[in-house]
Amino acid sequence: MLSQLLALLSDGRFHSGDDLGEALGVSRAAVWKHMKKLDDLDIPYSSVKGKGYRLHDAIELLDAERIGAELTHSIDCLDILLDVDSTNSWLFERAPDHLGKRYAVLAEKQNQGRGRRGRQWVSPFGKNIYLSFLVTLPGSLQDQEGLSLMVAIAVERALTKLGLAGIGLKWPNDVYLDGKKVAGILLEGRQTQPDFCQIVVGIGLNVMLSERDAERIDQPWAALRQYQPQVSRNRIAGVLIDQLNSMVDDFKRDGFEPWVKYWADRDVFYRREVLLSGGNEHRVGVVKGVNRKGELLLQTERGMEVVVAGELSVRPVD
Ligand code: BTN
Repeated sequence: MLSQLLALLSDGRFHSGDDLGEALGVSRAAVWKHMKKLDDLDIPYSSVKGKGYRLHDAIELLDAERIGAELTHSIDCLDILLDVDSTNSWLFERAPDHLGKRYAVLAEKQNQGRGRRGRQWVSPFGKNIYLSFLVTLPGSLQDQEGLSLMVAIAVERALTKLGLAGIGLKWPNDVYLDGKKVAGILLEGRQTQPDFCQIVVGIGLNVMLSERDAERIDQPWAALRQYQPQVSRNRIAGVLIDQLNSMVDDFKRDGFEPWVKYWADRDVFYRREVLLSGGNEHRVGVVKGVNRKGELLLQTERGMEVVVAGELSVRPVD
């Protein structure tokens, strides 16, 4: 019912309580009750006597059919949730029932969107892409190291396909647009059998952020609609899932090795001096690209060091 109400209001115009009630087959009072739920979802709207209800901003709601139309290879399941704590947690919980399946879930809002290194991921309603994608891969979790970089490449390729230019990659798996972070990736995996594991690939992609939302982000950020005001969220979601799906096939077949040069060509810190930090560790060195496993090659005063992705952050030294 709430989804239907939102669909009626998504044009951002006024709709009277009577019209909404008639379309939904409920009373005006029931419409009013449901409108209150929009407060919980933090969706700003006005209610004006004699005019009805209006969302402050028109919303392009996510639509499974429109997303499915962008897929060149089908996946096993696609779900769209109105709100959820975290799409990654939601899918991770359900993973044991979907061994061997490719399962994508998107949410309009995350109440506890999670980023790397224990950070929150700002996830307001109806504005961005919050996607989790479940895959089953042969081997152990350690064998999947290069996957997180391939996921970043899948995002980069999706954005390029959507016509955006100036996309960069930052090890191990951030995607930059115009020198600012536009997407973040969080992989969570479990070993299901000795020779198989399931990975939930989580992607947060900024499409549109209000000033209020942006205040909660502690680093320079970019959002797609700043560069392409008309870009459709459903198209972005479809193209992204499609690229991800095909990148997982590539990874299963050939691993990360064929992408080493592709990565270096787009690495925002390639040949730059960076500070690597995390926990008690602080290392300064020059980025020399990545190896065939997707590990970072850092030229330090001690020689060429190989850095395994973990809870580390990389910043330029200026
Ligand atoms: C980062 O810190 O850069 C990673 C951000 C990952 C955010 C996405 S949004 C969809 C999925 N669900 C989550 O809770 N996190 C990931």
